[in-house]
Amino acid sequence: MNIPHEKQLVIASNRLPFVVGRDHDGALEVRPASGGLVTAMLPILRENGGTWIGWTGLPEKDDCSAAALAQSAGDPGFNVVPVSLSDEEVVGFYEGFSNEIIWPLFHDLPSFCEFAPSHWDYYLQVNRKFARAIADNAAPDSLVWVHDYHLINVGTELRRHGARLRTAFFLHIPFPSIDMFMKLPWRQSLLRSLLEYGLIGFQTLRDRRNFVQCLRQLFRDVSVSGKGQVLQVGVGDRRVAVGHFPIGIDFADFARRAAAPEVRERARALHNLLPDRQLFFGVDRLDYTKGILLRLRAFREALIRHPELRQRVTLIQVVVPSREHISRYFDLRTQIEQLVSRINGEFTEPGGWVPIHYVFRSLDPVDLLAYYRAAEVALVTPLKDGMNLVAKEYCTCSIEENCVLVLSEFAGAAAQLRSGALMVNPHDIEGVADAIYRAFCMPEEERRRRMRRMRREIMRRDLFWWVSSFFNAVSKEVPHELQTNQSDEHGALVDGANPADAQPRELQRRAS
Ligand code: F6P
Repeated sequence: MNIPHEKQLVIASNRLPFVVGRDHDGALEVRPASGGLVTAMLPILRENGGTWIGWTGLPEKDDCSAAALAQSAGDPGFNVVPVSLSDEEVVGFYEGFSNEIIWPLFHDLPSFCEFAPSHWDYYLQVNRKFARAIADNAAPDSLVWVHDYHLINVGTELRRHGARLRTAFFLHIPFPSIDMFMKLPWRQSLLRSLLEYGLIGFQTLRDRRNFVQCLRQLFRDVSVSGKGQVLQVGVGDRRVAVGHFPIGIDFADFARRAAAPEVRERARALHNLLPDRQLFFGVDRLDYTKGILLRLRAFREALIRHPELRQRVTLIQVVVPSREHISRYFDLRTQIEQLVSRINGEFTEPGGWVPIHYVFRSLDPVDLLAYYRAAEVALVTPLKDGMNLVAKEYCTCSIEENCVLVLSEFAGAAAQLRSGALMVNPHDIEGVADAIYRAFCMPEEERRRRMRRMRREIMRRDLFWWVSSFFNAVSKEVPHELQTNQSDEHGALVDGANPADAQPRELQRRAS
């Protein structure tokens, strides 16, 4: 991998790369988090040193110091800077603005948004906290890499703080189309803040296009030049690079671990428990964007339209608990459980076949790999998703290449995997039901041909490709000598746009 030469890399993300908790006696428990970002960044930070700034996830009264965290993490080899959030900030910034406004809006679900003005105030407040932590911990030649929708406004806050640093931003979730984005009361501020970064990275071309279109709609004097993965965008006197970098997984590591005898044994045991049938598998964080309810309805529809599937297929649906303090998530769990129970009630054969096996918990990594290996078909049918790494993990673990991926056309991964997957519109229940049947019937030769294509693509654009291409773009596009001619508020607004939303509401209130 092309390790970036930046000696002083500063990463800021909502969560630290650790899962932090307390045991019964109140002692700190720290274990490494999983996920693409952590896997990609830890080796780089360990090798070059650097800093990771993020929230521990602990309640304020139980929060811990940087020293205690580093000690419990067994000295990770880089600086860890915890940002502590008050209970009100957790509600307003994390649950409120991040997960009840940006999350649903950017996933095309505006009716799920709670556009409470106080959420915006907390978003600004916490982004300011992060910006201060960055400014306090970055050296003048640091590269600051800010991650995801929780921290968009850090760009603006760094400028207000007077910190002139090289910065880059990556959005892990989709960027919405103009019709969606225009509904956001704070649309102008968020776009302006994104323009503060030297490089903005999106997952797909679709997201980058949407972003540029929103700029054109909301600002005068927008110019776009270049072609390929990274474009140069000018807004007024501001120049930024804007690229798409589809995040990958550590293909080699997944494939190696999936081939381990322990995984093979567990996969075989699963098939022995559920003999003479094909296993269909879904694994998702508890989230309404994942399309779990529609998927279950499509599975039911498949059993009705194609009765020969009965007794011959079992769906194993794993749901990993998430954001349960937010009422929509809590309610979704209840709805999923009622639907699973209804479908099982409708089709279960006494003493024999149960159509859906439902698991509500996090899986240990070996079990997850065993499910991936055992399943003949994976159903990855989000309503919308930035990327969806389950799709890539499943194919990678399909080392016999004799499996089928049913994939939503609205997952970011669709751009890379459409030539191998059975593509579906998750809203089309009959269409998904037919894809389930087609997957069930697909001849081995076709399964292998399709799976081979997808695995080749996943291997070629793996996690390390993602990091390298992002850092290559940083070296090319984010100058060491920062421009000095940038005005404080760049880019003229178009007629009819509201200049007031470029100001934090609390400042507007004070001004009035
Ligand atoms: O997909 C976006 C994301 O924020 C991931 O980065 C994260 O793993 C997941 O959602 C869970 O998020 P939370 O931090 O809200 O538990």
